[in-house]
Amino acid sequence: MDILGIETSCDETSAAVVRDGREVISNVVYTQIPLHRPYGGVVPEIASRAHVEKIHQVISDALGGRKVDAVAVTYGPGLAPALLVGVNAAKGLAKALKVPLIGVNHIEAHLHSPFLFDSPSPDPSAAPDPRDVCPALGLVVSGGNTILVDMPEYGKYEVIGETLDDAAGEAFDKAAKLLGLGYPGGLVIDRISEAFARENPGLDFIPFPKGRPREGVSALAGLPASLCVSFSGLKTALMRYLQAHPEISLSGPGERDWGGHMATPEAAHVIASYQHAIVEAVSDRVRTALSMRPRKAFVLGGGVSLNSGIRKSLSALCLERGVKLYMAKPKYTGDNAAMIAALAMYRRRVEGAAAMRMDAMPALEIGGACCSQEGAV
Ligand code: KG4
Repeated sequence: MDILGIETSCDETSAAVVRDGREVISNVVYTQIPLHRPYGGVVPEIASRAHVEKIHQVISDALGGRKVDAVAVTYGPGLAPALLVGVNAAKGLAKALKVPLIGVNHIEAHLHSPFLFDSPSPDPSAAPDPRDVCPALGLVVSGGNTILVDMPEYGKYEVIGETLDDAAGEAFDKAAKLLGLGYPGGLVIDRISEAFARENPGLDFIPFPKGRPREGVSALAGLPASLCVSFSGLKTALMRYLQAHPEISLSGPGERDWGGHMATPEAAHVIASYQHAIVEAVSDRVRTALSMRPRKAFVLGGGVSLNSGIRKSLSALCLERGVKLYMAKPKYTGDNAAMIAALAMYRRRVEGAAAMRMDAMPALEIGGACCSQEGAV
């Protein structure tokens, strides 16, 4: 079964065709990053307009004249004006092609990204079936989400931890802004940190806070503090550190290339220490989760899952615990429609008037009452 996926939840306009839930036939991603860069973050109105301008071309390139058996679309969570563009395009297309429509939860889709393989694969058996990996824990770390879930069986999700404020990607992007590294900053911080750590093994990191919320605060909403993160204090700590050390600058004496980006050794040390704090925060919460709920597998997805420190640390942790780690290929870590089409394979298809009632749900929760299992109708 070939499914066309459409993704417009944030700042990527994407369409993809995926066969039988895993084999990626095409995956077209138009990124709006250059449009949002001058503002240092995603501007919803600009995102929506750009989706409208690009969606037809992106869908047409992904289809490449192919016939599909269903149309799938992200209907939440995400930015309302951005989601609406994809949902309306999907409705129109499903109606015109006379095929079912499938609403997909974006976070759930990130947890399917590790199971995608490119067509034709030299070894399809290398890509496991997502239905075979549960019971598992999962982590989605991206620009909009940092969420830890338990998946006791396939299709069942229980949120066991999340961020109380900024997502991990926001923590990277806001730090990059403070440091003058541009937007989005995650990849730049990662490259500098990796190069700095490689050249300075054993050097002490600046002790930035590790994002652990205080037990009992109402924002935890009943979740254990030991499985949640809070990155707002970390960002403030960086700001204070930079204020207290005005001599630290990206440019100046000793400035040189770190993984393709210029910085002084002092600035690179701050950057690597900041990344280290995020990696430690994420790894500590995952370590605790695996102790509280031992599972045979761990599934990792989202734009920040590309981070070299997070990959290294979680790989070592899972190896030590005898847990099988499933990570998305780099090109499927960020927002993409292949993961939407992939997940759709296992979801309920809706047709006719019911499909036309599907609505964008900006605050859609994973595993919540309005989970995509039944489609947003
Ligand atoms: O999943 P994603 O494409 O979409 C959103 O949720 O918007 O994630 C984008 C986020 C950005 O915050 C970006 O800075 C971050 O992922 N990111 C990284 C890395 N590559 C992208 N963060 C840390 N290390 C990276 N290598």
